[in-house]
Amino acid sequence: MPTHSAATLATPRAPLTVASNDTPSPAADEVLVRVRAVAINPVDWVIQGTGPVTYRWLRTPAVLGSDLAGEVVAVGADVTRFRVGERVFGLATGTDRGRDPLREGAFQEYSTLLERLTSPMPDDLGDEQAAVLPLGLSTAACALFQPQHLGLRMPGTPSSATAPGVVVVWGGSTSVGMNAIQLARAAGYDVVSTASAKNAQTVRALGAETVVDHRSPTAVADLVSAIDGRAVVGAVALGAGSTDACLDVMSRTGGARLAMASTPLSLDALAGRRRLFPAMLPVFTRIGLATLRSTLRARRLGIRAAFVWGSSLRDDEMGPRLWREVVPRLLADGSLRPLPAPLVVGEGLGAVQGALDRQRAGVSAQKVVVRL
Ligand SMILES: NC(=O)c1ccc[n+]([C@@H]2O[C@H](COP(=O)([O-])OP(=O)(O)OC[C@H]3O[C@@H](n4cnc5c(N)ncnc54)[C@H](OP(=O)(O)O)[C@@H]3O)[C@@H](O)[C@H]2O)c1
Repeated sequence: MPTHSAATLATPRAPLTVASNDTPSPAADEVLVRVRAVAINPVDWVIQGTGPVTYRWLRTPAVLGSDLAGEVVAVGADVTRFRVGERVFGLATGTDRGRDPLREGAFQEYSTLLERLTSPMPDDLGDEQAAVLPLGLSTAACALFQPQHLGLRMPGTPSSATAPGVVVVWGGSTSVGMNAIQLARAAGYDVVSTASAKNAQTVRALGAETVVDHRSPTAVADLVSAIDGRAVVGAVALGAGSTDACLDVMSRTGGARLAMASTPLSLDALAGRRRLFPAMLPVFTRIGLATLRSTLRARRLGIRAAFVWGSSLRDDEMGPRLWREVVPRLLADGSLRPLPAPLVVGEGLGAVQGALDRQRAGVSAQKVVVRL
């Protein structure tokens, strides 16, 4: 079997090392991609640093990474949408339960992608730009459009309603948030959002009509006043503390659906520790208690609140619709811009560990990217 190089998690919690991996043949519904750029998401260092607790199903050695762009080198028997040599980008879901992280992890020279979670790359889009999209975009789409979350209509759905209502995106300068704003606007909804002052203009330019600072003590009141009595169709909560803030907004505006994407406190400090135990005990206890408190509060308020899983669109009808139809159309008409802007921190698989560390140290409206 041919082999290639991969940034590999050899054992749980180890630093990534470059090792050889078998180059697979694509299954009938897959394409095999020569990866040219990958982007880093918080979940990558969460898995690396806390996987024995949070991703207990994941076996090592594993290849992490959800976001990749490159060119097709082989297509599965049932794939008619792509041909060899075509430039594509897509969502790799290898670290999910029941998937194969050695075949379908982004951080390697060759990775498989499911055809239904892959889009062609427009000629004017670079690999580094396209790589910023997959998980942020997919998570935003799950939050907005899956029936178990906000259940909104997808862009391109015919509707007679002219003003379908307001979506609250708490954390508009996050990767997921920037995509959520663009998708909600493309679907015809009004958006109010949060970001730090330095990112407010960027977030406004995506179509958020009002952007308040999430650190301001008046952030909730400012959003409520911007909503000004209009119907709130739901909220997407991104960032530590965002769930309670969204519940505050919705309790005062009548919104009834909340999509939560973040743990109540970040796992960055825990992920960086040399040992998980015993430091994990108070952290996971606090997360569990805060989640329970928010869930009970949501129930009391009559708000349906649920956690989003950004790759769950792999198994429903929304994934193929998003990746086959909506993404190519919105990229072509300019209503989806690949954001946050790439911050290229290195080249080659040896740079991936540093890129994970850079993401964990904190970014502001930027996506950490490595060229391969
Ligand atoms: N459940 C899932 O499937 C899934 C998938 C992807 C991501 N996530 C989670 O979603 C969250 C966002 O991920 P991402 O990759 O989009 O993040 P990211 O791009 O790394 O987020 C960075 C941004 O977070 C903003 N931020 C920091 N603290 C905040 C707070 N308390 N409230 C609102 N915004 C805050 C910062 O905004 P300023 O610089 O403007 O202050 C910064 O621009 C993370 O918690 C991540 O773990 C979940």
